[in-house]
Amino acid sequence: RIIIIIMAGEKGVRASLTARDRVGIQDFVLLDAYTSESAFLDNLRKRFHENLIYTYIGTLLVSVNPYKDLDIYSKKQMDTYMGVNFFELPPHIYALADNVFRTMLSEFNNHFILISGESGAGKTEASKKILQFYAVSCPSTKLLNNVRDRLLLSNPVLEAFGNAKTLKNDNSSRFGKYMDIQFDHRGGAVGGHILSYLLEKSRVVHQNHGERNFHIFYQLVEGGEEDLLRWLGLERNCKNYRYLVQGDCAKVSSINDKSDWKTVRKALSVIDFGESDTEHLFGIIASVLHLGNLKFDADARGYATIKNNQEMHWLLGIPNQVLQQGLTHRKIEAKTEEVLSPFSVEHAAYARDALAKAIYGRTFNWLVNKINESLANQDSSRKMVVGLLDIYGFEVFSVNSFEQFCINYCNEKLQQLFIQLTLKSEQEEYELEGIEWEPVPFFNNKIICDLVEEKFRGIISLLDEECLRPGEATDLTFLEKMEEKIGGHPHFVTHKLADKNTRKTLERGDFRLLHYAGEVTYCVVGFLDKNNDLLYRSGKEVILFWVSMFSKAVVTQFKNSLVGLTEILMSKEPWYVRCIKPNESKQPAKFDDVLVRHQVKYLGLMEHLRVRRAGFAYRRKYEIFLQRYKALCPDTWPNWKGTPAEGVRCLIKHLGYKTNEYKLGRTKIFIRHPRTLFATEDAFQVCKHQLATRIQAKYKGYRVKEDYLKQKEAATKIENCWRGLMARKERERRAWAVKVIKKFIKGFMTRNQPACIDNSEYLAYVRQNYLTRLKENLPKSVLDMDSWLTPPPILKEVNELYMFLKNAVASPCDIVWVFLLLQLLLKAQTSSMFKGKKENYPLSVCRPFSSLCLFLFLFFLISSQLFAFRPQYGVPVVKYDRNGFRPRLRQLIFTQEAAYLVEETKIKQRIDFTSLKGVSVSNLSDNFLILHVTCNDIKQKGDLVLQCDFLYEALTKLSFIADKQSCVKVVQGSVRFDIQPGREGFVDFKSGQESMVYRAKNGHLMVVSVDRKSNS
Ligand SMILES: Nc1ncnc2c1ncn2[C@@H]1O[C@H](COP(=O)(O)OP(=O)(O)OP(=O)(O)O)[C@@H](O)[C@H]1O
Ligand SMILES: [Mg+2]
Repeated sequence: RIIIIIMAGEKGVRASLTARDRVGIQDFVLLDAYTSESAFLDNLRKRFHENLIYTYIGTLLVSVNPYKDLDIYSKKQMDTYMGVNFFELPPHIYALADNVFRTMLSEFNNHFILISGESGAGKTEASKKILQFYAVSCPSTKLLNNVRDRLLLSNPVLEAFGNAKTLKNDNSSRFGKYMDIQFDHRGGAVGGHILSYLLEKSRVVHQNHGERNFHIFYQLVEGGEEDLLRWLGLERNCKNYRYLVQGDCAKVSSINDKSDWKTVRKALSVIDFGESDTEHLFGIIASVLHLGNLKFDADARGYATIKNNQEMHWLLGIPNQVLQQGLTHRKIEAKTEEVLSPFSVEHAAYARDALAKAIYGRTFNWLVNKINESLANQDSSRKMVVGLLDIYGFEVFSVNSFEQFCINYCNEKLQQLFIQLTLKSEQEEYELEGIEWEPVPFFNNKIICDLVEEKFRGIISLLDEECLRPGEATDLTFLEKMEEKIGGHPHFVTHKLADKNTRKTLERGDFRLLHYAGEVTYCVVGFLDKNNDLLYRSGKEVILFWVSMFSKAVVTQFKNSLVGLTEILMSKEPWYVRCIKPNESKQPAKFDDVLVRHQVKYLGLMEHLRVRRAGFAYRRKYEIFLQRYKALCPDTWPNWKGTPAEGVRCLIKHLGYKTNEYKLGRTKIFIRHPRTLFATEDAFQVCKHQLATRIQAKYKGYRVKEDYLKQKEAATKIENCWRGLMARKERERRAWAVKVIKKFIKGFMTRNQPACIDNSEYLAYVRQNYLTRLKENLPKSVLDMDSWLTPPPILKEVNELYMFLKNAVASPCDIVWVFLLLQLLLKAQTSSMFKGKKENYPLSVCRPFSSLCLFLFLFFLISSQLFAFRPQYGVPVVKYDRNGFRPRLRQLIFTQEAAYLVEETKIKQRIDFTSLKGVSVSNLSDNFLILHVTCNDIKQKGDLVLQCDFLYEALTKLSFIADKQSCVKVVQGSVRFDIQPGREGFVDFKSGQESMVYRAKNGHLMVVSVDRKSNS
């Protein structure tokens, strides 16, 4: 909720303030000009164009048929409306259904939803939506789901038998339907019951142009299985049946008879129709079709005989003889005798149609009863009921006949019921709330109901009387009788009784009733016949012999069923859905003002609104009112501490409500005019914006503070951990240092004692220290005895050696010691050059430098000092030709200034140390070295590629003699060298299983050495 408020910026506030102008108000009760039909229509139109098809009048729902699929009936929508306060969400049929359901559960009582409206206004759709909502929202178990399926599937079956295509609606219900849905105390749908009213049987034998018979006929012919059709003697062609072709539109694009047939078949099996039931049912439907095809001829005397006898074969299972006689004769009962009198052709056709209608009507009733058996709830515990009444609304055509009379009478009764129930509930609410009852001015239509139904004097009584009276009764005699008996009634007028002006609008055979919704002119022609229905009049006596059981006048039957219905409804809480058709052409987004105005009038919506508005326009529980508007008063915002009633009192005082604008009941506030509420609502919309900003600021501050505190806490935690860690490390370091210093001091103190645990480390340290220093400070010449580092006292042996060396230099007698010392010095140098860099270095450590070489070296060293003799070191090498890399045995000799490559006695190449750029060796275990020389002249020889078994020795010597310790480079992979200036060659090094040297395909010299590391 906070987020929603935050999102409502200034734009949002402005939008919601103008929304009322754009999409109208969602409850007509809040319409200021509530008596104005135009204002009513404006609001309806605005909403319709915004696809808002639902609007309330209090708890009544007005629904305008959108004639298009709207995305408002999804499961998500159902969930949204489940268990939500009625007025909290936009008006919806689901809101109404949910409210009915919840009220029923909480108050444990019965309810009904009256859905009315013109043909095509969406009544049946609305009732289906309600059923679907309950199917989803009610608790479900396997058993309950079974009932739910039956409730849902009873619809397609009833629609197949009771609906037909008319000019107004492709799926028009041709009967009134009342359906009870029974719920247990937990809200599970456990059963149902259906009542049907006034099926339009005449459709079976006659359809207007552009209309069809009941769907089931077409479904059977189009979709029926081959076997079934053969068994019923039917052909798959609707055109072959007279009862199906009169409207000349057996096929309609919006109706798929084949798939509907499948749905009906499936539904029949779900609602417990056995094989034999369905066989009989379709047998009768087929019989009606065959009956329609019967034709009559006149015999010589002009009496009717059946022309196409073969049809009789398929009919009803009645013996041919009997049926034939029944259709062509009438039975006259005269005193004790029964006489058969033959029909004329015209009369026989009339009798045939009457029979067809009667059969269909009875079949329909049988069907409803069967469905009821299937829906019957077996459990006898107490049930709650929601009734759905899908019934024709007020009908006013240019010519209104008997049917309109019945329908409008029905609506008159329902209006009476509405007034009684509404006023009753209004009064009850006032009493409950302790508010003084203010009489509501309304038009009580009891006077009209009485005019129609009063015993002996009412129109229905007069009609029945006229039907049964001996003598020549006609529609006109009926009219005269009415004029005579009820002529003075203020709501009844005929041509004869009317004043001059009114008379102009009436025909001679018309009578006009001033219904509550407006006046309707009825044409009296056909009233008697239609009321008789199957009662065939002929002179004084009655009747077709086989239909004597269908007696009783239609209108009386209807009246009785209405009385029954009224009784059913009176015991229940009413809810209303009024459906409106926006245009005659079934088009979406087309709002025909004249048509809608007509319906608004005849649906009694203005009257309904007037009754609703007679008292107070708005009433709400204190809690809800306070919760919504508490922000408008500083004392009630953000929270009111006292009772909600006191809070509301405080709030409206702050808002400046005048005393005549409201009343305070026990639990509710009643507001008389919508404008008072709108002013409050508008103030709230403005205030909401300010509140949103404040809440936003608070919320942001709160979030930032929370984040800051979190970060601070985290930082402190990290700091603590880090400090702890550092402190522990420091402590360990100090403890270690103390130990080391202690050991050092102890070692120092015992340094002159024999080696023991206490001084071993100290002595090692002193030795190492001395050697390291010595390594870094070696004298330039071994004979330079004065610049040798003085060893510490504990290195007695070194001191002695040193002394010996000094003496030896002075008198070279004990030459072995000198060799050893030299060996040590050179090895130290080799180590610094190659240790950890070249793979086979470790192997060379234990290999003493060759004595001969050493001897020579020493000799040369000394002689160079003594006699300035040049050669200082020599070693055999293999030299690889620069071109072709052929190996040649050579000697490598170092003098003070240069290195020589010698073949026997012949000097092959001289390399001045000044032009020696560097020496490359690989990091592997081979013994190759490449001497890089600076060469400027193209004739000059280039770098030397050599292999030397005494590699470490030779290079150590070279580094000493040439003073080039850093010129030796250990490289990986490949070494580039100059064959001669401007021409380069390569030596590639790699490890392998065995050592090899060869010229590779790429022209490089490939040196493979054994992998010492993996070997070791
Ligand atoms: N809520 C709706 N959404 C979409 N289309 C609708 C809606 N209500 C009705 N319709 C359309 O209008 C047509 C007629 O509706 P419906 O059959 O409910 O009328 P009705 O009032 O029962 O008429 P009748 O009195 O002839 O039985 C439907 O077939 C459907 O196409
Ligand atoms: Mg309908």
